[in-house]
Amino acid sequence: MQKKREHWNSKIGFILAASGSAIGLGNIWKFPYIAGENGGAAFIIIYLVCIAIIGLPVLIGEVLLGRTTQRNPVGAFKKLSNSKFWAVIGSLGVIAGFIILSFYGVVAGWSFGYIFEAINGSFYDFNQIESASNHFTQLTSNVTWIVGFLALFIGITMFIVYAGVQKGIERASKIMMPLLLVILIALMIKGLSLQGAEKGLAFLLEPNWGNVTGETILLALGHAFFTLSLGMGAMMTYGSYMTEKDSIPASALQIVFLDTIIALIAGIAIFTAVFATGQDPSGGPGLIFHTLPIVFTKMTGGYIFSILFFLLLSIAALTSAISLLEVVIAYFVDEKDWKRHKAVITFGIITFLVGVPSALSFNVMSDMTIFGLNFFDLADYLASNILLPVGGLFISIFIAWVWGFDKVLIELKKGSEKLFDNSPWVINYWKVFIKYFAPVLIFLVLLSKLGLLEIILNFF
Ligand code: PFF
Repeated sequence: MQKKREHWNSKIGFILAASGSAIGLGNIWKFPYIAGENGGAAFIIIYLVCIAIIGLPVLIGEVLLGRTTQRNPVGAFKKLSNSKFWAVIGSLGVIAGFIILSFYGVVAGWSFGYIFEAINGSFYDFNQIESASNHFTQLTSNVTWIVGFLALFIGITMFIVYAGVQKGIERASKIMMPLLLVILIALMIKGLSLQGAEKGLAFLLEPNWGNVTGETILLALGHAFFTLSLGMGAMMTYGSYMTEKDSIPASALQIVFLDTIIALIAGIAIFTAVFATGQDPSGGPGLIFHTLPIVFTKMTGGYIFSILFFLLLSIAALTSAISLLEVVIAYFVDEKDWKRHKAVITFGIITFLVGVPSALSFNVMSDMTIFGLNFFDLADYLASNILLPVGGLFISIFIAWVWGFDKVLIELKKGSEKLFDNSPWVINYWKVFIKYFAPVLIFLVLLSKLGLLEIILNFF
């Protein structure tokens, strides 16, 4: 018996939910520090090119696969191809959903925990970066703190997904995304108003091509994937709740625009404040948890801004996490006929359990390594460096070369009739990029991530 599928209640509902998936720790935690470390504006320009030539085309493709089949990633491939191979590719996405959520939940848990630290005014006990770093190490060494906040984060994620597509995901996105935007803009205005802010802007916006290497380009490309939630079927799953009324290229463009602009605003908010308070901008991954607490203590209104900042980070992480869990849930609901409620409870708890070793990598299990990596780094490496690019590569190959391009275009045209008639160049652009640029470039990234590109280049 065919079950009735839930759909988004409105076009804006889909755009907010999908932007919520895209905008996450990748934008607010990762983007500013990798841009800062890799030549500022030079990195940003390369990153924008990657978004335009790979991110946007693959996003359109993923959403299209979902909308056409009205299925989760495994079901989508199964519906369009009889080959078992493609079902396996779909299941890699479901597995990646689990793995990403387990380590993502740990960092998101820190962010939750830091909201309470900010409220307690703990940051005012620090006067230099060492004391802030020590405090971070102390907190993350505490098993109850780190596992407790992981549990809280996964619990809230489960609560939203449990309520369903419209009443849970769409409603939560409609509340949280505008809030996120308002907080971020407030933080940016505060950052820009500080004396010395222009040094931060220059650091972020003046291209420094000297720092750019081949590695930078690969980093930008990999980040384009992660930040747009591509390669694991999250956007496919969200696309499967779309109807044929809405234009996919137009929606995808809006999502990419929002994701990019938010990363840039986050970068401006963070670096203006870091420079204005005389802190070191090259804090790397620790920038937010080590450097920012000090920054807040040195600005007027820092108490309120510190609470707002960690609230913002937590909201961003939450709207991404719900999309990760939804991939797993959609699979069990569509393919295994599970009830949503049972699937959410079962797999929410399993995700939490998978996340525990990642959380313990910062304390009792820090000496346990596999291939030289602790659980947290292994989960991150496996998902971001292997599963997402492999997923993205095969998704673009499937769309461009397996599905049948005539059929692809018929589906894409639904909801976009005007675009096809008035601006056919948009469609031609998409065709070229999804057929050639995306698969070739992703393949190169993959080779390089596995260390094979260097070996091949050295060979010549
Ligand atoms: N796009 C999210 C971020 O930038 O933080 C991370 C992410 C979410 C990746 C969902 C993949 C995914 F399916």
